[in-house]
Order: sequence, then C-alpha cells, then structure tokens
Amino acid sequence: MSDPHIPVGDAGDGSEFDFENRIVSTSYTPGDEDAEATLRPRRLEDYIGQDKVKENLKVYIEAAKLRHEPLDHVLLYGPPGLGKTTLSNIIAAELGVNLRVTSGPAIEKQGDLAALLTNLNEGDVLYIDEIHRLPRMVEEILYPAMEDFALDIIIGKGPAARSIRIDLPKFTLIGATTRAGQMTTPLRDRFGVIFKLELYTPEQLALIVKRSAGILGISISDDGAFEVASRSRGTPRIANRLLKRVRDFAQVQGKTQVDAASASYALDRLEIDELGLDNTDRRMMEAIIKFYAGGPVGLDTLAATIGEEAVTIEDVYEPYLMQLGFINRTPRGRCVTPLAYEHLGLRPPQPVHAAEQMQMNIFDDSVTSDSNGDGFNEE
Ligand code: ADE
Repeated sequence: MSDPHIPVGDAGDGSEFDFENRIVSTSYTPGDEDAEATLRPRRLEDYIGQDKVKENLKVYIEAAKLRHEPLDHVLLYGPPGLGKTTLSNIIAAELGVNLRVTSGPAIEKQGDLAALLTNLNEGDVLYIDEIHRLPRMVEEILYPAMEDFALDIIIGKGPAARSIRIDLPKFTLIGATTRAGQMTTPLRDRFGVIFKLELYTPEQLALIVKRSAGILGISISDDGAFEVASRSRGTPRIANRLLKRVRDFAQVQGKTQVDAASASYALDRLEIDELGLDNTDRRMMEAIIKFYAGGPVGLDTLAATIGEEAVTIEDVYEPYLMQLGFINRTPRGRCVTPLAYEHLGLRPPQPVHAAEQMQMNIFDDSVTSDSNGDGFNEE
C-alpha cells in the first residue's frame, strides 16, 4: 500500500508516477536531511547567494548585538529548498544563542506552544517552519508572546474564568513559509523583518556545488559544476542531490573527476533536461497545450488533469517554470508561452494579426464571391 500522503498521479502511460520522489523535488527526500546537515553553511560568510538578504541581515544582527537586545522577529518566505532552515541556523549561530526548531502543523494545541516558549532562554531563536499552517487558536497566543514577551493564560471556565499573564524570556521568532499569502495579516504584521528568498542563479549554484563537492571529497571541474548548477532549477537542495548522483555515474565510469561531459551524461540518464526540467514539468506544459490549447486553464482543473495537488503546482512547479518564462499566471488561469512550445519542440500557435485576417478573408470563398478559386470575383 502506498503512503496516502504522497500524491500519486497517472503518468499518462497507464503507470503511476510518484511526484514527490522526483530527483528534482524541492521537498526533503530520503537522505537529504543528513546531507544537508553536513553541507549546510554554518556562518553568514559561508552562505552563497541571497546577497540582499545577507547584507541587511548582517546589519540587523550586529545592531541587535550592540544593543544587547534580541533580534526583531524575522519572516522568511519563498519556494522550498532555498535555505530557510539553513539561514535560521546561521542567524542563531551569529547571535550566539540556541535555536529551537518546530513547525506549524506540529503545534496542535496552545499548550504545545506555551511549553516551547516557556522553555526558551533569554535571546534564543524559535524557528517555526510552515508557519502559515499554525492552528488559529495557537496563533492567538503567539501575538502577545511576540509583542510583549508574555503569555496570557485563561484559568478556569465560565464566569469564574480569569486571565493571568506570564512573562517570557525575550526571544526572536523566525517564521518560514512558502505561502506568505496564506498567513493572516495580524501574524504577518508582527514580524519586524521580512525577507523573500529568490531562486539562485546558475553561477551562484555552481559555487554551492563546488563548495559541497569539496566537503564531500568529490573532484569536479568548473564546467562540471556549472552543468549540474544549470539543471538544478535554482535550488541548492536539488543541486546537492544531483551532485551525488553525478558522482555515482562518474565513479562507475572510472572517472577521477566529474567534468561537463560526465555530468551531462548522468543528467541525461536521469531525464533532466538542460534547463533542469523533468518529465513532470514537461507533462504539465504538454497537458496545457494538448487539452487546453495552451491555456488559460484554471489551477484546479490543471491539477485534476495531471493528478497533482493545486498547492504543489503553485509552490513547486510554477515558480521555476515562471522564472524561465514558460508559464504565465493570468487572472483567467495558467498559460504556456511561445518559449515553452519551443523548448518542447512544438510550433507555437501563430498570432493572427488584423491585416493577415483580412488577407485570409479575401481568399476565403465564404467571404468573397471567388467561387471558382481563380482569384477574381465572379459577379
Ligand atoms: N548549501 C546549501 N545552500 C547553500 C548556500 N546558500 N550557500 C552555501 N552552501 C549551501
């Protein structure tokens, strides 16, 4: 029996396709957690990319330390796999405090959060991943905790109920989310610092691949690293995963160094194309073209067509396809662009201009009276 939480779709050839176990999945896949622990940069100076975030963060951390105050609460948002957890580990390390890690869905009751908050030390960082999934009741006790470092607890029931306030140690909350739009406004407004993490450029990812290769003892040329980087859809988690698969192929081929040719060979074998798209991406774009004439098609309809969840399409597939300019989100739904047709080796539909339309009308029997097709009107 397959795991009911893993979305499984129809691969189109009668077989089932496990979308979450794609090698280019941005979610954690088995083995990632250990790998990320070794490869994760520990200090801001080792963190590659997200330059604007890094520069500003450096200032806020230094200022907080100078004032001997906790850092203001930080919200990190952006697609999965870009280093939100890594960044929060770094923030705690730079501040010289402990990091406590939890996630929105793991906190079911107010008491769960109260226990976490009361066990913090002064200045600690509490990291809540997927903060948009915090239950509403739990979220409500977070407001005074964030604003006044206090817990309001109701004791008793009915008319005898009374509220007592418990002071908490001053702490920094780091919230992470792939869906800032799903957070409530009162929660979002309580973060003093909000950072959006962007997909990485191939150049930045190549640096990350080189760094990871160094840690893992893999010899890789610059162009080999760039080959891996350019097929990693802007995501370090994918780049590090592909690096290890590329090493496997090179090793079995008896190569002592991963170069561009061996990286390219391995990635072709994994059916990851030169832009990092896999069969699922291609199938999604082909579905829009084949069944909806290139779009627009509504998100839910598309999700049903390819047997995928709407949120996964929005969070996982679309950000990269949009960055490549292959998909547009319009008010009427998703559309593929001429660039996507080209990438798939298909001819984009030609736009019909007014002048061309007139020409077509001239030669169209139903519009003119050129009934014998000789180019003259027979009237
Ligand atoms: N490994 C994963 N993400 C990284 C980053 N942003 N910088 C350096 N190494 C990384």
